[in-house]
Amino acid sequence: MAQIIAEVSRTFNEFLLLPNRTRTDCSAATVDLRTALVRHSAGQAPAIELRSPFTSAIMQAVSTPALAIALARNGGLSFLHHNQPVQDQAAAVRQVKNFKAGFVVSDTNVRPDDSLGVLADVMRRTGHSTAAVTDDGTATGRLLGLVTSRDFHPQRHGLDGPVGERMTPLSELPHADSEITLSDANARLWDERLDCLPVLDGDGHLQHLVFRSDYADNKRFPDQLVDAAKRLRVGAGINTHDYRERVPALLEAGADVLCFDSSDGYSDWQAQALTWVKKHHPDVPVGGGNVVDGEAFTFLAEAGADFVKVGVGGGSICITRDQKGIGRGQASAVLDVAAARDAFRERTGAYVPICSDGGLVHDYHVALALAMGADFVMMGRYFARFDQAAGAKLPTRDGFVKEYWGEGSNRARNWQRYGQGGGQGLVFEEGVDGYVPYAGDLNEGLALTVAKLRTTMVSCGSTTLPEFRSTARLTLVSDQSFQESHANVTLRDAPVTAS
Ligand code: IMP
Repeated sequence: MAQIIAEVSRTFNEFLLLPNRTRTDCSAATVDLRTALVRHSAGQAPAIELRSPFTSAIMQAVSTPALAIALARNGGLSFLHHNQPVQDQAAAVRQVKNFKAGFVVSDTNVRPDDSLGVLADVMRRTGHSTAAVTDDGTATGRLLGLVTSRDFHPQRHGLDGPVGERMTPLSELPHADSEITLSDANARLWDERLDCLPVLDGDGHLQHLVFRSDYADNKRFPDQLVDAAKRLRVGAGINTHDYRERVPALLEAGADVLCFDSSDGYSDWQAQALTWVKKHHPDVPVGGGNVVDGEAFTFLAEAGADFVKVGVGGGSICITRDQKGIGRGQASAVLDVAAARDAFRERTGAYVPICSDGGLVHDYHVALALAMGADFVMMGRYFARFDQAAGAKLPTRDGFVKEYWGEGSNRARNWQRYGQGGGQGLVFEEGVDGYVPYAGDLNEGLALTVAKLRTTMVSCGSTTLPEFRSTARLTLVSDQSFQESHANVTLRDAPVTAS
C-alpha cells in the first residue's frame, strides 16, 4: 500500500520568524552573508564560498552573461543555462571569465571613412559619446583614433565628412598595453586628465577602453566573487544527456562550478552522470538536484554531489504539480533536506550544502529559506525582472514588464530537464510563458533585498548564516494571523469605499 507522509506539505507563506534577543554588537553592518557553495569537511573552509547567498536560475530567461557578471560582482553566482549548443554555452562562460572590471569592450565603433552621420547614428543607438575608430569598425580592430561627441557639431561640420577628419589620431592619443592594472589605468586617467584610456594588444588592436566613471563604479563592489586570478566566478548548468561533450567544453572555457539541472534529480541517470564527472574531473565541483526529501538528498550526496538543489513544483512559472501531481511545499522540502544534510555530516564528516530553488516570491522568503536550513537560494522570477536578464522589456498600461518563461514551456522546450520519455522533445508542457514586473538594475534591486535580509537577521540576533540557521525560531501562522500581517487601513493613494 502507498505510504502517506504524516506531515502536511507546507510553504513559506505559512511561517514567520520570531525575533531573538539582539546583542549590541549585532547590526546590519556586522552581518556576514558568506556561505558555503560546495562540499567540504565539517569544520574546514570550503573551496568556494559565496559572499552573498544568491544564485540565479539555470534558465534561458534568466542567466545571461550580463546577469552573471552583475550577480558575481555582488557576491553571488549565476548558472548559465544549458538549453543551447555546447559551443554557445562555452562562449557565454568565456564572456563572464573575460570580464575585467573597469575594462570595457567598446560597443561604439566606426571606420575612419564612415561619415559623421553614421557616427551620430551609432552614438544614438548605444547612448555612448566616445567611439573607437578602428580599421575594420569592430571592437577589436586596429585602433586608429578616438572620436567623441565633443569633436563634431552637426551644423558646424556637417554630417557628410569622414570620421577620420575629426578624430584624435592614435599618434596623439595616450594609450596603454594589456598588462596595465585597473588602478594604474585610473592613475593615468587622473594624472593625464583623460576621460578614456584605450588598452591595446601588441599588434595595436583594441582590447578595452577604461573610463574614469568605471573605476569609481568598480569601487562600489567590495564583495565580488572572484577566483584565484581575480576573474569573476561563474557556474554552468549541465544535463544527463550530453555531459560527456558539454562538461569538458565548459571547463575549458573556465566554468568554476557545474550543476545538473533536472526537474527530478532522484534518478539513477543523475547518479551515473555525477559518478562520470567525479571520475573524469575529480576537482570540479558539481551540484545535483532537484530533490524534495532527505532520502533523495542522501542518494545524490552519496553519488558525489557537491551541493544539492531543493524544490519540485514550486517555481513561479511551474505547472509540474498540475500536470504530473509531483512536488512538495518548499518549506517542508527545505526542512526535511536540511535535517538529512546534518545527519549526513554527522555520519560522514562531509558537509554538503543545500540550495532552496524556486518559489521565493517575497524578499522575506529568502530569510525564511535560509533560517529553515538552506545554505543559499536560487531564484528565477526574482532575477528575470532586472535589466540584465534575457527577456524583452515591454511597455504596458501599468508600467513596464519583462518576459519570463519556464524551461518546460513550449518556448524553451528544454526536454533535457524533464524525463518525459519524449526522446528529443517535450511531450507536454511543465512551465508557462509570461511576464514579470520590470524592476530596473540588478545592483539596486539586490541591494534592497540584501538590506532586508541583514535586518531580519539582526532581529533574530544573528550575524552569520550558520548562526541564523541554528538559532532561528519559526512559527506557523493561521489564516487569521496571515491577514493581520498586511496593512489594515485604507492606503492614502487608494480610493476610499463605503464598506
Ligand atoms: P522561481 O524563482 O519561482 O521563478 O523558480 C525558478 C525555478 O523553477 C528554477 O530554478 C527551476 O528549478 C524551476 N523551473 C524553471 N523552469 C521551469 C518550468 O518550466 N517548470 C517547472 N519548473 C521550472
